[in-house]
Amino acid sequence: MLTESPEKLNGDFEGKDIISFNQFDTASLDKLFSIVSYMRNIANPPHPLRPSRSTLLEGNLVYLVFYEPSSRTCGSFEAATKQLGGEAIVEKNPQQFSSVAKGETLEDTIQTFEAYSDCIVLRHPETGAAQRAADVAKYVPVINAGDGTGEHPTQAILDLYTIYERHHRLDNLIGLIAGDIKNGRTVHSLLEGLSLYPNNTVYLLSPEQLRLQPDTMRGLLSRGLSIFEIDTIEDIPQEASFWYWTRVQKERFINLDEYEQVNNKFIVTPAVLESYASNEMVLMHPLPRVGEITKNVDLDPRAVYLGRRDGISQIRNGMYTRMALLSLVLGSVH
Ligand code: NCD
Repeated sequence: MLTESPEKLNGDFEGKDIISFNQFDTASLDKLFSIVSYMRNIANPPHPLRPSRSTLLEGNLVYLVFYEPSSRTCGSFEAATKQLGGEAIVEKNPQQFSSVAKGETLEDTIQTFEAYSDCIVLRHPETGAAQRAADVAKYVPVINAGDGTGEHPTQAILDLYTIYERHHRLDNLIGLIAGDIKNGRTVHSLLEGLSLYPNNTVYLLSPEQLRLQPDTMRGLLSRGLSIFEIDTIEDIPQEASFWYWTRVQKERFINLDEYEQVNNKFIVTPAVLESYASNEMVLMHPLPRVGEITKNVDLDPRAVYLGRRDGISQIRNGMYTRMALLSLVLGSVH
């Protein structure tokens, strides 16, 4: 929608673009979180053969426009829409299969898809692309599903919800974020989210080359988040209540030798968990993982990045929280 960019939510999601986590406040997150259990029950009905689960989004058409690869974000947005009786059109790889291949601009493409839909969910390799899309889409909200190395606000919603589900609070936390802090858009949005709550401390574990950009660091510190940069797994504080591991973002490197130098410096194994993690810690990863958490960690009860249906599951939380977000943005829930 054409507004001041991007508009603060202040507890009212209806018709608004979701571009950056800096639009959020704790009351807006509380409101969203308060309907997640309801969404979970829709997605997990007691009777497995019950055919039609919800009509909350009936009559709504969500256009998923993904210029970059995606499994979970695209899949969960599509599933979320369908769980609520809405329709989804998935446009993967528009640079190959749409008029983008003929040289059409992002702006024209977005205005075209806007003409057919009630909401656009956009993933794009350029930082700022979601805002550009929101600036031209006058009639439907645009949701940022990841813009380059910028932000990934809906991932941060599910990540914060997962921490909340495990610890029943989002303040007074000590946590660890590891991997590609510089290029990881999920990390940037998660840090913004953690900075909304008082007394949070985050340890950032990364190679020197993949540290947080100084201006981002300054903004977070000014909002009261305590941040410590560490260089080795041995420096992880035992009392960390969450670990958020990430992959090194290969596609952001121009020089692949530089990628090889920093890739997989820090790998979670059962031995690492045994030595440095508490029993209360929740081990998260936005996925995909490419070697930075070994497969034999998956069965550890603290690992929730895949998760089971009867326990905490970060990927299923992605669907539940996106059901909640779509319902609020499309005005089906107030
Ligand atoms: C992330 C992304 O695309 O930023 N994936 C996701 O949406 N869960 C993380 C990544 O690609 O490393």
